[in-house]
Amino acid sequence: MKAILYRKFGGPEGLEYTDVSDPKPGSHEVVIRIRAAGVNPVDWKLHRGKLPGAFLFRLKLPFVPGAEAAGIVEEVGSQVKELAPGDEVVAFHSALQGGAYAEKMLTSVDNCQKKPAGISFEESASAPLAALTAYQLMKGLQTSGKRLLVLGASGGVGHFGVQIGKLLGADVTGVASARNQEFLKKLGCEAALAYDDPNFSESLEAYDVVLDAAASRSPAELAPHMNKGASYLNTLPSPAHWMQCKFRGFGYRGAMVRSSPEDMATLMGWLEKGEVRPVVEKTFPLEQTAEAHRLSETGHARGKIVLVVSS
Ligand SMILES: NC(=O)c1ccc[n+]([C@@H]2O[C@H](COP(=O)([O-])OP(=O)(O)OC[C@H]3O[C@@H](n4cnc5c(N)ncnc54)[C@H](OP(=O)(O)O)[C@@H]3O)[C@@H](O)[C@H]2O)c1
Repeated sequence: MKAILYRKFGGPEGLEYTDVSDPKPGSHEVVIRIRAAGVNPVDWKLHRGKLPGAFLFRLKLPFVPGAEAAGIVEEVGSQVKELAPGDEVVAFHSALQGGAYAEKMLTSVDNCQKKPAGISFEESASAPLAALTAYQLMKGLQTSGKRLLVLGASGGVGHFGVQIGKLLGADVTGVASARNQEFLKKLGCEAALAYDDPNFSESLEAYDVVLDAAASRSPAELAPHMNKGASYLNTLPSPAHWMQCKFRGFGYRGAMVRSSPEDMATLMGWLEKGEVRPVVEKTFPLEQTAEAHRLSETGHARGKIVLVVSS
C-alpha cells in the first residue's frame, strides 16, 4: 500500500510517498481502509524531533505519521466482535504509534467508533485528537454558567474548545488574530478578541477558566484576568505554569490527550447531532502531505487540515 514515511528527523521535504507492506490485524485489531486522515501539530513536531521530551519516546524509524483517520473496516482480528468489514469508522490512537498517513491503518478495536452519520469522512477524521484534547482538559470542571477564555480559538484544538465549552454551559470569549474575528463569532463565541490588536490586554475581562490552546500566555501574565480559584488549562504541559498556578491558588491542567472509548463515544454523539461541527480549512491529497505540514507549521491554520487518501 501507499503511505507517507520519514527515515530521519527533519522538515516536510523528508516526507516520502512510497510503498510499505499491508498491515495484518492481531486478535483485537482492525485494519481500516482510510478515506481521510487528520493532520495535527504533533505530527510535524515529532518529525522535527521538537516535541518536549521527544528523546523519551524513542520513535522507531522509518516512521509513518498520523494519529487519526476515518474510513471503512477492511479486516478484523479473530476476537473482534464490535466491528465487521464494511463498517464506516473513525479511529484515533497515539501520535507515537502513527500509521494514519497511509492507505490502511492498523489499530486496536478499542480506538474505533462508528462514523457519525451526516458528516463527511474528512470532517470525521479531523475531530478526535483536537476535540478530545479540549474535552479532556475541561471534563469535570465547573464550566456551567462560568466565563471561559479560549486562546488560539480558531485553530484545531481551539475551535473545538469553543464549541465544547459552550455545550458544557460556559460563556465563551475566543482569542485569535484580527482576520479570524468573524470566524470566532460564527463558532458561537459570545465575545471575540484579537491578540494582534494593540489594545488586546485592556480588552481582557475576568475569567473562571482559561484554555490556552496556543500556549501563548502564562498563568502569571493572565493572573489579573483570572477570578479567584480559576483554572488554567494548557495544551503544552509546563512545570513552570503548574508552579505559577499553585502559587496563586489557580487550578492547573496540562493536556496529554489519550484515546478513550468513553470520550470518543461522547464526541461521536456530539458530531452525529451536529452539536460540534469540525471546520476543515483545507484538504490535501496524501501525496501532498509535505504541503499540509508546511501549512500546519505556520501555526495559523483555521480549524483543521485533512489528508484525503481515497474517495
Ligand atoms: N498535549 C497535548 O495532548 C496536545 C494535543 C493537541 C494539541 N497540542 C498542542 O496545542 C497547540 C495547538 O494545537 P492546534 O492543533 O490547535 O494548532 P493550530 O491548529 O495550529 O492552531 C493554532 C492557533 O493559535 C492561534 N495563535 C497563534 N498565535 C497566537 C497568539 N500569539 N495568541 C493567541 N492565539 C494565537 C492561531 O490563530 P491565528 O491563525 O488567528 O493567529 C490558531 O487559532 C500545538 O502546540 C499542539 O502541539 C497538544
